[in-house]
Amino acid sequence: MTFRITVLCENTVGPISGTLGEHGFAALIEPANGEPFLFDTGQGATLLHNARRMNKDLASIRKVVISHGHHDHSGGLLPLLQECGPSRIYGHPEIFAPRFRVKDNGECISIGIPRNQSALKDAGAIFDLSPDFREIAPGMFLTGEVPRSVPFEIGDRGLFSDCTSQRPDSTPDDQSLILETGKGLVLVLGCCHAGLVNTLEHVAHTMGRRDVHTIIGGTHLGFCGKEQIDNTISVLKKSGIRKLAASHCTGFAASARLSHELPKVFQPAHVGYTLEV
Ligand SMILES: [Fe+2]
Ligand SMILES: [Fe+2]
Repeated sequence: MTFRITVLCENTVGPISGTLGEHGFAALIEPANGEPFLFDTGQGATLLHNARRMNKDLASIRKVVISHGHHDHSGGLLPLLQECGPSRIYGHPEIFAPRFRVKDNGECISIGIPRNQSALKDAGAIFDLSPDFREIAPGMFLTGEVPRSVPFEIGDRGLFSDCTSQRPDSTPDDQSLILETGKGLVLVLGCCHAGLVNTLEHVAHTMGRRDVHTIIGGTHLGFCGKEQIDNTISVLKKSGIRKLAASHCTGFAASARLSHELPKVFQPAHVGYTLEV
């Protein structure tokens, strides 16, 4: 199967006139044979606008994957449902858990899904929530919850389940999308809070193959320590992946490092970035 993947929401924009950036991620997945669907929705300020600027008609969207319950991936759900009608929403049962970022200065910011489940249901959301690996359409799979087995992937230490800083949030709902293509597997990440190496190991285990051709999306390496970045780069160098189209929470410094270490593989995936694979 072949797919066209178009980044609709991301922190930065490419050359397409009039598109807007916001901290977040959303990608339109268009299978050559099959229904288009959305992977994440950004914060909500840019999804519909950017889709219009790129002549992408979202009116036919009836499936949305929410990679995890952070506002910068789920905030566009309500405006999407209001403009485009009902959709089946795939995610993990924990996507509605309370979520906070506690900064070094003690400031606590709510970063969970900005609407509750019933408000989204009223707007036309049909939730299909499961923690398990599953096929959502022919050749398209969700990883489900990703086991945290690699010791160096300690992740983002600023995420908590409340404002006391006593309950770290490992974001267990984080999952990624796997597409089967003629060139190999394509992995679409939201924030990859589970860790890129944990996710790659889980993909190998669930799919029974390791031929990942392309990785696109947020790696969260911009919020992780040097040891995690060093070890991730070393695994990527040995993995045989052909393209790493990094977005969003990868951030500038980690992107610069990835670009330097994997010059033939790394590409920045801004708003408007399109991949046909
Ligand atoms: Fe994010
Ligand atoms: Fe996130």
